Amino acid sequence: MRLVICETIEEFGEKAAQAIAAQIRAKSNSVLGLPTGDTPIRVYNELVKLYNENYIDFQYVTTFNLDEYLGMDKENPSSYNYFMWNNLFRHINISNEKVHIPDGKASDPHKECSDYEDSINGLGGLDLMVLGIGLNGHIGFNEPGTNFDSRTRVVELAESTISANARNFNSSDEVPRQAITMGIATIMAAKKILLLATGEGKAQIVYDAFNKNISTEIPASVLQYHKDVHIILDKEAGRYFK
Ligand code: GLP
Repeated sequence: MRLVICETIEEFGEKAAQAIAAQIRAKSNSVLGLPTGDTPIRVYNELVKLYNENYIDFQYVTTFNLDEYLGMDKENPSSYNYFMWNNLFRHINISNEKVHIPDGKASDPHKECSDYEDSINGLGGLDLMVLGIGLNGHIGFNEPGTNFDSRTRVVELAESTISANARNFNSSDEVPRQAITMGIATIMAAKKILLLATGEGKAQIVYDAFNKNISTEIPASVLQYHKDVHIILDKEAGRYFK
């Protein structure tokens, strides 16, 4: 495990973007797993900058997003699909057919999940999985109690996740109760993992994930089993690490 605690939020964005850029520069046809949320926004901004400076090229890159709300139309501004196009994809030269985001409106969500797994495996798996962390320790939408052998599937969201994510909707009543998420085993199969967290609110959970016993009660604690994890935090999120 490699831990970097950044002095400023700007440094956090730059370091995290550099870590992703290094993967793309080392392997131009990298397969990336990508998260949504507030945490990666500045990282995506930095990646767009690096692309505009001709430092990285997305032509051969393939991406798989971690999750999407079930029943969510991709044109909806609260969808993760909309988020990804708005914050990253429309600003870079990635080809449409190399972008994968679970389809929240799939007529057969269970088939959508198994097809998603097949597509990842068909490309030889994820080279780099970039993750945020939920306040309750979730990764993707793998809530506390999730089995570590879980794969891409339909899940119920925890009440605390619904409240935390209500900020992206008009009210918590509008937050979908279900989602499609990559499973813990899907995430753990990635060759490398980059975990990102910022802000004081994440300080305790990110510390617990790497310093308490591995337990399904803190889904991110499973990352202690992974051989190649890089953690990048800002000063506030890293405050409990010595
Ligand atoms: C959501 C996503 C997660 C993300 C988490 C943290 O629930 N499903 O993938 O890591 O929120 O988001 P934020 O970065 O906004 O704190």
